[in-house]
Amino acid sequence: MIDTLKKHIVEVEAFKTDSKEAVEAFRIKYLGKKGLLNDFFAEFKNVPNDQKKEFGQTINELKTLAAEKVNTLKEALENETDFSPIYGDLTRPGEPIELGARHPISIVKNQIIEIFSRIGFNVSEGPEIEDDWHNFTALNLPEHHPARDMQDTFFVQTDPDILLRTHTSSVQVRYMENNQPPIRTISPGRVYRNEAISARSHCFFHQVEGLYIDKEVSFADLKQTLQFFTTELFGKSKIRLRPSYFPFTEPSAEVDVYWGLETETDYRMTKGTGWLEIMGCGMVDPNVLDNCGIDSETYSGFAFGMGIDRIALLLHQISDIRLLSENDVRFLEQFRSAL
Ligand code: PHE
Repeated sequence: MIDTLKKHIVEVEAFKTDSKEAVEAFRIKYLGKKGLLNDFFAEFKNVPNDQKKEFGQTINELKTLAAEKVNTLKEALENETDFSPIYGDLTRPGEPIELGARHPISIVKNQIIEIFSRIGFNVSEGPEIEDDWHNFTALNLPEHHPARDMQDTFFVQTDPDILLRTHTSSVQVRYMENNQPPIRTISPGRVYRNEAISARSHCFFHQVEGLYIDKEVSFADLKQTLQFFTTELFGKSKIRLRPSYFPFTEPSAEVDVYWGLETETDYRMTKGTGWLEIMGCGMVDPNVLDNCGIDSETYSGFAFGMGIDRIALLLHQISDIRLLSENDVRFLEQFRSAL
């Protein structure tokens, strides 16, 4: 008899469930009016005297254990929050989540970064709100220099020394001030110019500028680097460099890539010439190196700068630059499959 009780003790201790019904069935089985415990208590009078004590203790132990078990299981079930009214059937398949798309500017920017990273360029960034020194003066554009008019500038009204950067050349100045050659860095970022907004120009746009400084860097290095770049980005290796002027480079050039004249779009995009202008470049003016703490007797370098927006328009045949900043989902979602 005592052995039967002990078996029940083991069973009670091991009992586990997370259903209310099973707890109730368990309670009735042991503690109910017609439950096992009452049966055992009724049996008590038949137990021989010398076993009564042990039997009584065991039966009480079983009773306490069963009662405690019912209480703890009930409590655990009550504390469990019931989610079903809020979420309904949790096994139902979920709503499909709309996949986002990268912005075409980001796509093109990443492509450019990736191409230059393959030939050892790192990425540098700087502030969009700049001071006069980093945006102009250090770049060989002292105050009242007429070339400042090449880039219509937004100044902060209360402080003419503070402005919205007009190009990311300012980042290169900062980079040169803090790093010694060899330098190979590209600086992507947003720039601002006080220009009327139209299909072709905007008061803010994005640039990637590049800077390469080391001993004995030549114009041939510049040309070769740009040719590698245009081949990788556009799949076009024919480029030409036309003489130009930038205050921070000497000599300076404008870079055209030969796009071709195969389709009507080619004619329209290149205005019938087959050539597309894509960037400015040149050999860094020694004054700029000296301004930034780099010895121009020992080092030389080249720099280039291009507009990401313009390249995105070309690559994706977008006709209006304003589309890039209007956040129209119908436009943006078309880039889902690109990179
Ligand atoms: N900073 C020039 C611009 O914004 C581009 C450029 C960069 C030209 C480097 C030459 C060398 O127009």
